[in-house]
Amino acid sequence: MGKITIAIDGYSSTGKSTLAKQLAKSLGYIYVDTGAMYRAVTLFALRKKYINEKGTDEDALITSLPQIRLQFKFNDDLGYAEMYLNGENVEQEIRKLEVSRYVSKISVVEAVRDKLVAMQREMGKEKGLVMDGRDIGTVVFPDAELKIFMTASADARAARRYKELLDKGEEITYADVLKNVRERDHIDSNRKHSPLRKGDDAIELDNTDMGLQEQFERILNFAKRVI
Ligand code: C5P
Repeated sequence: MGKITIAIDGYSSTGKSTLAKQLAKSLGYIYVDTGAMYRAVTLFALRKKYINEKGTDEDALITSLPQIRLQFKFNDDLGYAEMYLNGENVEQEIRKLEVSRYVSKISVVEAVRDKLVAMQREMGKEKGLVMDGRDIGTVVFPDAELKIFMTASADARAARRYKELLDKGEEITYADVLKNVRERDHIDSNRKHSPLRKGDDAIELDNTDMGLQEQFERILNFAKRVI
């Protein structure tokens, strides 16, 4: 059986990572969550105070990019890889709403994208991987054998993300989460470099009213046809 590259792109909180993880596990593939990489760079910028509600100090961020070391380390108990920023496990921190509020503003910076895209291509050069993000099928791996583009209504996505964050003990309102989902959609889709868009060759999956098992089976079937 030949190994392929599977690109899963789409709007925020469409459940890309849950699906990508499950798919990677069942195929024996590596899973790479590229959102975690943009989130870790955002955490770095927040800690260094290179970004706040007034704007981004792009020059300072770009100058310090070589100091940012990102690693995924597999956690056997969890069954997936966690994100490390300069040796520190930041998996919990990067999922918080504070990071979500700024991540799309960091993701517009071309030098950040160049650094992360180069790392992603390196990780995928052996194939046998499922990578999720916003520009995987369009920019990172335009030759990926299978490309999925996930969508769902903003309300359905916000409701899922709200539940997830509440379960983690964050004190947030549904309105805050919905606003964040809409803002990220807008910035991600309208940025100059590698905007979020469905490639002509991507299969669209709208999961507003679709359970996880059904989504998984559909994508697994698509994958089996190609492999
Ligand atoms: O996937 P996740 O919601 O964790 O991604 C967080 C943010 O990172 C996105 O809203 C987007 O701004 C950015 N991102 C990106 N390109 C990717 C993955 C994520 O610009 N390939």
